[in-house]
Amino acid sequence: MKYLITGGCGFIGVNLVSYLLRKDPSLKIRILDNLSTGKAENLKEAGILDKVDLIVGDICDYDTCIRACKGVDSVIHLAAQSGVIPSIEDPFTDCKINVIGTLNLLKASLENGVEKFIFASSNAPIGESNPPVNENKIPRPASPYGASKLSCEAYCSAFYHSYGLKTLIFRFSNVYGPYSLHKSSVVAKFIKDAMLKKELTIYGDGNQTRDFIYVDDICQAIWLALGCEKEIWGKPIHLGTGKETRIIDLANFVKSLFNDNIRISFAPERKGEIKKNFSDISKAKEILGFSPSVELKDGVRRVYEWFKTKEIDEIRNAVILSGSE
Ligand SMILES: NC(=O)c1ccc[n+]([C@@H]2O[C@H](COP(=O)([O-])OP(=O)(O)OC[C@H]3O[C@@H](n4cnc5c(N)ncnc54)[C@H](O)[C@@H]3O)[C@@H](O)[C@H]2O)c1
Repeated sequence: MKYLITGGCGFIGVNLVSYLLRKDPSLKIRILDNLSTGKAENLKEAGILDKVDLIVGDICDYDTCIRACKGVDSVIHLAAQSGVIPSIEDPFTDCKINVIGTLNLLKASLENGVEKFIFASSNAPIGESNPPVNENKIPRPASPYGASKLSCEAYCSAFYHSYGLKTLIFRFSNVYGPYSLHKSSVVAKFIKDAMLKKELTIYGDGNQTRDFIYVDDICQAIWLALGCEKEIWGKPIHLGTGKETRIIDLANFVKSLFNDNIRISFAPERKGEIKKNFSDISKAKEILGFSPSVELKDGVRRVYEWFKTKEIDEIRNAVILSGSE
């Protein structure tokens, strides 16, 4: 089997490539990544750089997508502008990378006879909604990022119904794990700030909730979908743990990992951010046999151990680059 993983040098990408090669070392994996946030060094650190075919290129370039999809059985499309805040600051760039990039890849997959196309979406298309979120909720995006992901979902549906490309949309909840040095999502951010002996800043009162899923559990669902022969195509499936965690509780747990030597502070809540969110994962369980297995405290401890292997200067630079300082 040959897989194309776009965004394979990024956070979820590196974890996914490692996971797939652990499951089946004979897999042929090609990565398409423009290295805008991901790094080839991540693949090197994971010991898989020489096991993949890395194309450095942009999904916004159709010819590059055609080249990347040649001879490929399945595409797992992760490459994206993946932040809510950057999408609010620059919705045009978010739209170009997410919508045009995805359309390029869908068309290139079709032209190359790709069988399955798995798309990384998020809960953001749903917007503000009473949790738990599931596949029956009417999407009402609260951010340009949610809008662009929803548009990609629509194209995935259209490519299945118009052309028979077996697309599948996974709506990830909040994913955390190793190789997240460049991420400004809350688990990575709290750990980085704590390592730099900075305060853990909570936007709002800390009672907002998220469904945090360890990256290997996301990889498990993708692995199950790649092998799935049921008629599941063209539709979204929510992935998460089904558990709701308050940001204040996460902050207190991270604080405890640093012997409580870190302060927690509060700042005004940010526009476009959803207050309460967790996923109903019954469809993923029923259709794919999905079963998330990593408990939050265990997972966060693993991420903390991974961050401890980094130099403080590396962490400081990552914080400056991710614009979260
Ligand atoms: N991390 C999460 O919590 C989360 C939650 C929901 C959905 N997602 C989705 O999962 C996917 C992966 O997210 P991630 O957290 O690993 O992000 P990431 O930023 O670490 O990875 C994205 C990768 O895509 C690459 N990339 C970006 N623009 C590109 C372009 N134009 N052409 C080629 N490559 C490009 C980057 O260099 C990077 O390696 C994204 O689609 C994201 O929207 C992530």
